[in-house]
Amino acid sequence: MLGTEKHQTLSNYKLGLDFAKELDQNDELSYYRNQFHIPKDNNGKELIYLCGNSLGLQPKATKSYIDQELKDWANLGVEGHTEAKNPWLPYHEFLTESLSKTVGAKPIEVITMNTLTINLHLMMVSFYKPTQERYKIVIEADAFPSDKYAVESQLRHHGFDDKKGLILWKAREGEELLHYEDLETIMDQHGHEIALVMLGGVNYYTGQYFDLKRITNLGHKYGCMVGFDCAHGAGNVELNLHDSGADFAVWCTYKYLNSGPGSLAGAFVHERHAYDKTLNRFTGWWSHNKETRFNMRHEFDLLPGAEGWQLSNPPILSLAAIRSSLDIFNEVGIKKLIKKSRKLTGYFEFLLKQLGEDTIRIITPSNHEERGCQLSIQVINADKKLFERLTASGVISDWREPDVIRCAPVPLYNSYQDVYEMVERLKDILNE
Ligand SMILES: Cc1ncc(COP(=O)(O)O)c(C=O)c1O
Repeated sequence: MLGTEKHQTLSNYKLGLDFAKELDQNDELSYYRNQFHIPKDNNGKELIYLCGNSLGLQPKATKSYIDQELKDWANLGVEGHTEAKNPWLPYHEFLTESLSKTVGAKPIEVITMNTLTINLHLMMVSFYKPTQERYKIVIEADAFPSDKYAVESQLRHHGFDDKKGLILWKAREGEELLHYEDLETIMDQHGHEIALVMLGGVNYYTGQYFDLKRITNLGHKYGCMVGFDCAHGAGNVELNLHDSGADFAVWCTYKYLNSGPGSLAGAFVHERHAYDKTLNRFTGWWSHNKETRFNMRHEFDLLPGAEGWQLSNPPILSLAAIRSSLDIFNEVGIKKLIKKSRKLTGYFEFLLKQLGEDTIRIITPSNHEERGCQLSIQVINADKKLFERLTASGVISDWREPDVIRCAPVPLYNSYQDVYEMVERLKDILNE
Protein backbone atom coordinates (compact mmCIF):
# COMPACT_ATOMS: atom_id res chain seq x y z
CA MET A 1 0.00 0.00 0.00
CA LEU A 2 2.35 2.77 1.15
CA GLY A 3 5.66 1.85 -0.38
CA THR A 4 7.87 -0.53 1.56
CA GLU A 5 5.90 -1.65 4.59
CA LYS A 6 8.77 -1.62 7.03
CA HIS A 7 7.21 -0.93 10.39
CA GLN A 8 9.58 -0.03 13.11
CA THR A 9 9.49 -2.07 16.22
CA LEU A 10 7.88 -0.44 19.22
CA SER A 11 8.76 -3.31 21.53
CA ASN A 12 12.17 -1.81 22.40
CA TYR A 13 10.57 0.91 24.44
CA LYS A 14 9.44 0.78 28.06
CA LEU A 15 6.95 2.71 30.14
CA GLY A 16 7.82 5.10 32.97
CA LEU A 17 9.84 8.24 33.57
CA ASP A 18 13.02 6.34 34.40
CA PHE A 19 13.15 4.93 30.90
CA ALA A 20 12.75 8.43 29.38
CA LYS A 21 15.62 9.63 31.59
CA GLU A 22 17.75 6.68 30.57
CA LEU A 23 17.15 7.46 26.89
CA ASP A 24 18.15 11.07 27.49
CA GLN A 25 21.30 10.01 29.31
CA ASN A 26 22.34 7.80 26.42
CA ASP A 27 21.43 10.38 23.78
CA GLU A 28 24.58 11.48 21.94
CA LEU A 29 22.78 14.63 20.72
CA SER A 30 21.45 15.72 24.14
CA TYR A 31 24.18 18.38 24.27
CA TYR A 32 22.43 20.34 21.52
CA ARG A 33 19.29 21.10 23.52
CA ASN A 34 21.31 23.60 25.48
CA GLN A 35 22.32 25.32 22.25
CA PHE A 36 18.72 26.54 21.84
CA HIS A 37 16.48 28.94 23.72
CA ILE A 38 13.60 26.87 25.11
CA PRO A 39 10.47 29.02 25.66
CA LYS A 40 9.27 29.29 29.27
CA ASP A 41 5.93 29.84 31.00
CA ASN A 42 5.15 32.84 33.25
CA ASN A 43 6.84 31.11 36.17
CA GLY A 44 10.05 30.59 34.25
CA LYS A 45 9.41 26.86 33.74
CA GLU A 46 10.42 25.42 30.39
CA LEU A 47 7.48 24.66 28.12
CA ILE A 48 7.26 21.39 26.24
CA TYR A 49 7.85 22.73 22.78
CA LEU A 50 6.72 20.30 20.08
CA CYS A 51 6.06 22.85 17.37
CA GLY A 52 9.24 22.85 15.28
CA ASN A 53 7.05 21.85 12.34
CA SER A 54 5.65 25.37 12.48
CA LEU A 55 8.44 27.54 13.89
CA GLY A 56 11.79 26.13 14.96
CA LEU A 57 13.48 27.39 18.12
CA GLN A 58 16.21 30.00 18.19
CA PRO A 59 19.80 28.76 18.39
CA LYS A 60 21.63 30.69 21.11
CA ALA A 61 24.41 31.41 18.61
CA THR A 62 22.08 33.23 16.20
CA LYS A 63 22.36 36.50 18.11
CA SER A 64 26.13 36.63 17.72
CA TYR A 65 25.88 35.85 13.98
CA ILE A 66 23.43 38.74 13.52
CA ASP A 67 25.35 41.02 15.90
CA GLN A 68 28.45 40.56 13.78
CA GLU A 69 26.64 41.91 10.73
CA LEU A 70 25.06 44.78 12.71
CA LYS A 71 28.52 45.67 14.01
CA ASP A 72 30.06 45.62 10.55
CA TRP A 73 27.21 47.68 9.18
CA ALA A 74 27.65 50.23 12.02
CA ASN A 75 31.41 50.44 11.54
CA LEU A 76 31.74 50.06 7.80
CA GLY A 77 28.53 51.21 6.17
CA VAL A 78 28.53 50.34 2.49
CA GLU A 79 32.12 49.08 2.67
CA GLY A 80 30.75 46.05 4.49
CA HIS A 81 29.82 44.57 1.13
CA THR A 82 33.49 43.80 0.62
CA GLU A 83 35.20 44.57 3.98
CA ALA A 84 32.89 42.98 6.56
CA LYS A 85 34.34 40.01 8.45
CA ASN A 86 31.95 37.96 6.32
CA PRO A 87 31.65 40.14 3.21
CA TRP A 88 28.04 40.68 2.20
CA LEU A 89 28.50 40.38 -1.55
CA PRO A 90 29.27 36.66 -1.45
CA TYR A 91 27.47 36.08 1.90
CA HIS A 92 24.98 33.53 0.57
CA GLU A 93 27.90 31.39 -0.56
CA PHE A 94 28.86 30.81 3.10
CA LEU A 95 25.64 28.77 3.38
CA THR A 96 25.92 26.77 0.18
CA GLU A 97 27.89 23.77 1.36
CA SER A 98 26.00 23.14 4.60
CA LEU A 99 22.65 23.70 2.90
CA SER A 100 23.46 21.34 0.05
CA LYS A 101 24.47 18.62 2.54
CA THR A 102 21.33 19.14 4.60
CA VAL A 103 18.99 18.62 1.65
CA GLY A 104 21.14 16.07 -0.19
CA ALA A 105 22.06 18.21 -3.18
CA LYS A 106 25.15 19.42 -5.01
CA PRO A 107 26.32 22.95 -4.20
CA ILE A 108 25.39 24.18 -7.68
CA GLU A 109 21.81 23.01 -7.10
CA VAL A 110 20.84 25.11 -4.07
CA ILE A 111 20.21 28.72 -3.23
CA THR A 112 18.76 30.65 -0.29
CA MET A 113 16.49 33.47 -1.46
CA ASN A 114 13.04 35.07 -1.14
CA THR A 115 10.28 33.20 0.68
CA LEU A 116 8.76 29.84 -0.09
CA THR A 117 5.68 30.74 -2.11
CA ILE A 118 7.68 33.24 -4.15
CA ASN A 119 10.26 30.57 -4.92
CA LEU A 120 7.49 28.20 -5.94
CA HIS A 121 6.26 30.79 -8.44
CA LEU A 122 9.78 31.41 -9.76
CA MET A 123 10.25 27.68 -10.26
CA MET A 124 6.94 27.44 -12.08
CA VAL A 125 7.97 30.29 -14.37
CA SER A 126 10.74 27.94 -15.50
CA PHE A 127 9.26 24.48 -15.10
CA TYR A 128 5.57 24.94 -15.80
CA LYS A 129 5.48 25.29 -19.56
CA PRO A 130 1.88 24.57 -20.52
CA THR A 131 0.57 23.98 -24.01
CA GLN A 132 -3.07 23.63 -25.11
CA GLU A 133 -2.69 19.83 -25.02
CA ARG A 134 -0.54 19.54 -21.90
CA TYR A 135 -1.28 22.12 -19.22
CA LYS A 136 -2.61 20.32 -16.13
CA ILE A 137 -0.96 20.28 -12.71
CA VAL A 138 -1.17 17.46 -10.13
CA ILE A 139 -1.16 18.34 -6.44
CA GLU A 140 -2.25 16.49 -3.27
CA ALA A 141 -5.97 16.98 -2.60
CA ASP A 142 -4.89 18.21 0.82
CA ALA A 143 -1.94 20.31 -0.31
CA PHE A 144 -0.91 23.25 1.83
CA PRO A 145 -3.28 26.11 0.87
CA SER A 146 -0.49 28.43 -0.32
CA ASP A 147 0.67 25.78 -2.81
CA LYS A 148 -2.86 25.32 -4.10
CA TYR A 149 -3.40 29.05 -4.49
CA ALA A 150 -0.03 29.37 -6.23
CA VAL A 151 -0.67 26.65 -8.82
CA GLU A 152 -4.25 27.87 -9.43
CA SER A 153 -2.93 31.34 -10.12
CA GLN A 154 -0.31 29.93 -12.52
CA LEU A 155 -3.08 28.16 -14.44
CA ARG A 156 -5.09 31.38 -14.67
CA HIS A 157 -1.98 33.35 -15.57
CA HIS A 158 -1.51 31.11 -18.59
CA GLY A 159 -5.18 31.49 -19.58
CA PHE A 160 -6.44 28.12 -18.32
CA ASP A 161 -9.39 27.25 -16.12
CA ASP A 162 -8.06 26.67 -12.61
CA LYS A 163 -10.64 23.97 -11.87
CA LYS A 164 -10.17 21.98 -15.07
CA GLY A 165 -6.42 22.38 -14.90
CA LEU A 166 -5.96 20.98 -11.41
CA ILE A 167 -5.79 17.23 -10.81
CA LEU A 168 -6.03 16.19 -7.19
CA TRP A 169 -4.30 13.11 -5.79
CA LYS A 170 -6.89 12.14 -3.21
CA ALA A 171 -6.98 9.83 -0.22
CA ARG A 172 -9.43 6.95 -0.49
CA GLU A 173 -12.80 7.10 1.23
CA GLY A 174 -12.31 6.99 5.02
CA GLU A 175 -8.49 7.27 4.77
CA GLU A 176 -6.01 10.10 5.14
CA LEU A 177 -2.81 8.74 3.60
CA LEU A 178 -2.21 8.70 -0.13
CA HIS A 179 -1.59 5.54 -2.17
CA TYR A 180 1.03 5.56 -4.93
CA GLU A 181 -1.18 3.28 -6.99
CA ASP A 182 -3.76 6.07 -7.20
CA LEU A 183 -1.15 8.49 -8.50
CA GLU A 184 -0.13 5.86 -11.05
CA THR A 185 -3.75 5.61 -12.19
CA ILE A 186 -3.95 9.39 -12.55
CA MET A 187 -0.78 9.40 -14.64
CA ASP A 188 -2.01 6.50 -16.71
CA GLN A 189 -5.25 8.28 -17.55
CA HIS A 190 -4.07 11.90 -17.79
CA GLY A 191 -0.26 11.78 -18.11
CA HIS A 192 -0.34 13.22 -21.64
CA GLU A 193 -2.28 16.29 -20.38
CA ILE A 194 -0.14 16.93 -17.32
CA ALA A 195 2.64 19.53 -17.49
CA LEU A 196 3.67 19.51 -13.84
CA VAL A 197 3.50 17.23 -10.79
CA MET A 198 3.94 19.44 -7.72
CA LEU A 199 3.65 17.76 -4.32
CA GLY A 200 4.61 18.42 -0.73
CA GLY A 201 7.70 16.31 0.07
CA VAL A 202 6.19 15.69 3.51
CA ASN A 203 2.48 16.47 3.67
CA TYR A 204 1.90 19.24 6.20
CA TYR A 205 -1.26 17.68 7.64
CA THR A 206 -0.64 13.94 7.81
CA GLY A 207 3.16 14.04 8.00
CA GLN A 208 3.33 11.44 5.20
CA TYR A 209 6.78 11.57 3.60
CA PHE A 210 6.59 10.67 -0.06
CA ASP A 211 9.09 8.69 -2.05
CA LEU A 212 10.44 11.59 -4.10
CA LYS A 213 12.38 9.38 -6.48
CA ARG A 214 9.46 7.12 -7.21
CA ILE A 215 7.18 10.08 -7.91
CA THR A 216 9.82 11.81 -10.04
CA ASN A 217 10.41 8.70 -12.14
CA LEU A 218 6.69 8.32 -12.60
CA GLY A 219 6.21 11.95 -13.67
CA HIS A 220 9.19 11.88 -16.01
CA LYS A 221 7.96 8.66 -17.60
CA TYR A 222 4.92 10.62 -18.78
CA GLY A 223 6.96 13.63 -19.91
CA CYS A 224 5.98 15.86 -16.97
CA MET A 225 8.13 18.21 -14.90
CA VAL A 226 8.28 17.27 -11.22
CA GLY A 227 8.76 19.61 -8.25
CA PHE A 228 8.35 19.37 -4.48
CA ASP A 229 7.49 21.74 -1.67
CA CYS A 230 9.83 20.53 1.06
CA ALA A 231 8.76 22.97 3.78
CA HIS A 232 8.16 20.02 6.12
CA GLY A 233 11.11 18.02 4.81
CA ALA A 234 14.15 20.30 4.95
CA GLY A 235 16.06 19.57 8.16
CA ASN A 236 13.53 16.87 9.08
CA VAL A 237 14.10 13.99 6.66
CA GLU A 238 16.96 12.95 4.44
CA LEU A 239 15.65 14.47 1.23
CA ASN A 240 18.39 13.33 -1.17
CA LEU A 241 17.13 15.88 -3.64
CA HIS A 242 19.83 15.31 -6.24
CA ASP A 243 19.29 11.55 -6.35
CA SER A 244 15.53 11.97 -6.45
CA GLY A 245 15.99 13.50 -9.92
CA ALA A 246 13.31 16.12 -9.23
CA ASP A 247 13.43 19.14 -11.49
CA PHE A 248 13.04 21.56 -8.61
CA ALA A 249 12.21 21.86 -4.93
CA VAL A 250 11.50 24.73 -2.57
CA TRP A 251 11.36 25.00 1.22
CA CYS A 252 11.21 27.50 4.03
CA THR A 253 13.88 27.71 6.71
CA TYR A 254 11.81 28.82 9.69
CA LYS A 255 10.52 25.35 10.58
CA TYR A 256 13.10 22.59 11.04
CA LEU A 257 15.94 24.85 9.91
CA ASN A 258 15.39 27.18 12.90
CA SER A 259 16.11 30.46 11.14
CA GLY A 260 13.40 32.69 12.66
CA PRO A 261 9.93 33.85 11.65
CA GLY A 262 9.51 34.69 7.97
CA SER A 263 13.19 34.08 7.23
CA LEU A 264 14.47 33.47 3.71
CA ALA A 265 13.61 30.25 1.89
CA GLY A 266 15.53 27.72 -0.18
CA ALA A 267 15.35 26.42 -3.71
CA PHE A 268 16.84 23.44 -5.51
CA VAL A 269 17.21 23.16 -9.26
CA HIS A 270 18.57 19.89 -10.54
CA GLU A 271 22.07 20.02 -12.00
CA ARG A 272 20.82 18.99 -15.44
CA HIS A 273 19.18 22.43 -15.73
CA ALA A 274 22.18 24.33 -14.36
CA TYR A 275 23.55 25.59 -17.68
CA ASP A 276 20.31 25.72 -19.65
CA LYS A 277 19.96 29.27 -20.90
CA THR A 278 16.81 28.46 -22.87
CA LEU A 279 14.66 27.94 -19.78
CA ASN A 280 12.12 30.68 -19.32
CA ARG A 281 12.80 32.59 -16.11
CA PHE A 282 12.48 35.92 -14.38
CA THR A 283 15.81 37.66 -13.90
CA GLY A 284 17.36 40.53 -11.98
CA TRP A 285 20.87 41.81 -11.37
CA TRP A 286 21.57 38.99 -8.90
CA SER A 287 21.00 36.39 -11.65
CA HIS A 288 23.77 38.06 -13.62
CA ASN A 289 27.40 36.86 -13.76
CA LYS A 290 29.05 37.87 -10.47
CA GLU A 291 32.30 38.91 -12.12
CA THR A 292 30.69 41.60 -14.23
CA ARG A 293 27.55 42.42 -12.22
CA PHE A 294 28.87 45.82 -11.19
CA ASN A 295 29.98 46.86 -14.65
CA MET A 296 26.33 47.80 -14.90
CA ARG A 297 25.90 48.36 -18.62
CA HIS A 298 26.67 44.86 -19.80
CA GLU A 299 24.18 42.72 -21.64
CA PHE A 300 22.62 40.14 -19.35
CA ASP A 301 24.94 37.19 -18.68
CA LEU A 302 23.22 34.40 -16.74
CA LEU A 303 24.78 32.81 -13.65
CA PRO A 304 24.76 29.00 -13.90
CA GLY A 305 23.02 26.82 -11.33
CA ALA A 306 20.37 27.65 -8.76
CA GLU A 307 22.08 31.00 -8.10
CA GLY A 308 20.83 32.08 -11.51
CA TRP A 309 17.29 32.20 -10.12
CA GLN A 310 18.15 35.00 -7.66
CA LEU A 311 16.72 38.40 -8.47
CA SER A 312 17.82 40.76 -5.72
CA ASN A 313 20.68 41.24 -3.33
CA PRO A 314 19.60 39.25 -0.26
CA PRO A 315 18.89 40.42 3.32
CA ILE A 316 22.09 39.66 5.19
CA LEU A 317 20.52 39.59 8.68
CA SER A 318 18.24 36.76 7.62
CA LEU A 319 21.09 34.91 5.92
CA ALA A 320 23.13 35.28 9.12
CA ALA A 321 20.36 33.59 11.13
CA ILE A 322 20.14 30.73 8.62
CA ARG A 323 23.91 30.37 8.62
CA SER A 324 24.01 30.01 12.40
CA SER A 325 21.46 27.21 12.23
CA LEU A 326 23.05 25.46 9.25
CA ASP A 327 26.38 25.46 11.08
CA ILE A 328 24.71 23.27 13.73
CA PHE A 329 23.29 20.96 11.07
CA ASN A 330 26.69 20.74 9.49
CA GLU A 331 28.31 19.86 12.81
CA VAL A 332 25.76 17.16 13.69
CA GLY A 333 25.17 15.79 10.18
CA ILE A 334 21.76 14.83 8.83
CA LYS A 335 22.34 11.08 9.32
CA LYS A 336 22.79 11.34 13.10
CA LEU A 337 19.80 13.62 13.30
CA ILE A 338 17.58 11.20 11.45
CA LYS A 339 18.77 8.35 13.66
CA LYS A 340 17.71 10.16 16.82
CA SER A 341 14.57 11.47 15.18
CA ARG A 342 13.34 7.96 14.40
CA LYS A 343 14.03 6.80 17.93
CA LEU A 344 12.39 9.84 19.55
CA THR A 345 9.28 9.76 17.36
CA GLY A 346 9.09 5.98 17.74
CA TYR A 347 9.07 6.45 21.52
CA PHE A 348 6.37 9.11 21.20
CA GLU A 349 4.26 6.74 19.10
CA PHE A 350 4.79 3.94 21.62
CA LEU A 351 3.57 6.11 24.51
CA LEU A 352 0.58 7.47 22.59
CA LYS A 353 -0.48 3.96 21.67
CA GLN A 354 -0.71 3.13 25.39
CA LEU A 355 -3.66 5.54 25.55
CA GLY A 356 -5.67 3.06 23.53
CA GLU A 357 -6.88 2.96 19.97
CA ASP A 358 -10.38 3.96 21.02
CA THR A 359 -8.89 7.24 22.31
CA ILE A 360 -6.04 8.14 19.99
CA ARG A 361 -5.55 7.71 16.27
CA ILE A 362 -2.22 8.59 14.73
CA ILE A 363 -2.75 9.36 11.07
CA THR A 364 0.94 9.70 10.24
CA PRO A 365 2.44 6.51 8.75
CA SER A 366 3.99 4.21 11.34
CA ASN A 367 6.77 3.20 8.97
CA HIS A 368 9.65 5.53 9.82
CA GLU A 369 10.73 5.69 6.18
CA GLU A 370 7.43 7.33 5.37
CA ARG A 371 7.51 10.09 7.96
CA GLY A 372 9.76 12.63 9.64
CA CYS A 373 9.47 13.58 13.30
CA GLN A 374 5.90 14.87 13.17
CA LEU A 375 2.96 12.82 14.40
CA SER A 376 -0.54 13.99 13.52
CA ILE A 377 -2.88 12.89 16.26
CA GLN A 378 -6.63 12.63 16.23
CA VAL A 379 -8.27 12.32 19.62
CA ILE A 380 -11.54 10.49 19.21
CA ASN A 381 -14.61 12.62 19.98
CA ALA A 382 -12.46 15.61 20.95
CA ASP A 383 -12.53 19.12 19.59
CA LYS A 384 -10.25 22.13 19.72
CA LYS A 385 -10.95 22.57 23.45
CA LEU A 386 -8.75 19.58 24.19
CA PHE A 387 -5.89 21.19 22.28
CA GLU A 388 -6.45 24.41 24.23
CA ARG A 389 -6.23 22.53 27.52
CA LEU A 390 -3.08 20.84 26.34
CA THR A 391 -1.60 24.25 25.57
CA ALA A 392 -2.68 25.56 28.97
CA SER A 393 -0.86 22.60 30.55
CA GLY A 394 2.40 23.84 28.99
CA VAL A 395 2.58 21.76 25.81
CA ILE A 396 3.13 23.81 22.65
CA SER A 397 1.87 21.91 19.60
CA ASP A 398 -0.50 23.02 16.89
CA TRP A 399 -4.02 22.38 15.77
CA ARG A 400 -5.05 21.92 12.17
CA GLU A 401 -8.70 21.89 11.22
CA PRO A 402 -10.78 19.83 11.33
CA ASP A 403 -9.41 17.59 14.11
CA VAL A 404 -5.66 17.12 14.17
CA ILE A 405 -3.04 17.98 16.78
CA ARG A 406 0.37 18.08 15.14
CA CYS A 407 3.35 17.39 17.40
CA ALA A 408 6.93 17.34 16.23
CA PRO A 409 9.62 16.19 18.64
CA VAL A 410 12.68 17.75 17.04
CA PRO A 411 15.87 15.73 17.55
CA LEU A 412 18.11 18.78 17.95
CA TYR A 413 16.36 20.22 20.97
CA ASN A 414 13.61 17.92 22.19
CA SER A 415 14.29 15.32 24.86
CA TYR A 416 12.72 11.95 25.55
CA GLN A 417 11.41 13.50 28.76
CA ASP A 418 9.58 16.16 26.72
CA VAL A 419 7.76 13.43 24.89
CA TYR A 420 7.05 11.51 28.10
CA GLU A 421 5.67 14.65 29.79
CA MET A 422 3.48 15.51 26.81
CA VAL A 423 1.77 12.14 26.90
CA GLU A 424 1.36 12.32 30.70
CA ARG A 425 -0.35 15.70 30.42
CA LEU A 426 -2.58 14.51 27.61
CA LYS A 427 -3.49 11.48 29.72
CA ASP A 428 -4.38 13.71 32.70
CA ILE A 429 -6.59 15.89 30.51
CA LEU A 430 -8.35 12.86 29.05
CA ASN A 431 -8.95 11.48 32.56
CA GLU A 432 -10.38 14.72 33.94
C1 LIG B 1 3.89 23.13 3.15
C2 LIG B 1 3.91 24.62 3.14
N1 LIG B 1 3.93 25.25 1.96
C3 LIG B 1 3.94 26.59 1.89
C4 LIG B 1 3.95 27.37 3.04
C5 LIG B 1 3.92 28.86 2.89
O1 LIG B 1 5.14 29.42 3.20
P1 LIG B 1 5.50 30.96 3.00
O2 LIG B 1 4.50 31.77 3.77
O3 LIG B 1 6.86 31.07 3.61
O4 LIG B 1 5.47 31.26 1.56
C6 LIG B 1 3.95 26.75 4.29
C7 LIG B 1 3.96 27.54 5.53
O5 LIG B 1 3.86 27.06 6.63
C8 LIG B 1 3.93 25.32 4.33
O6 LIG B 1 3.89 24.67 5.50
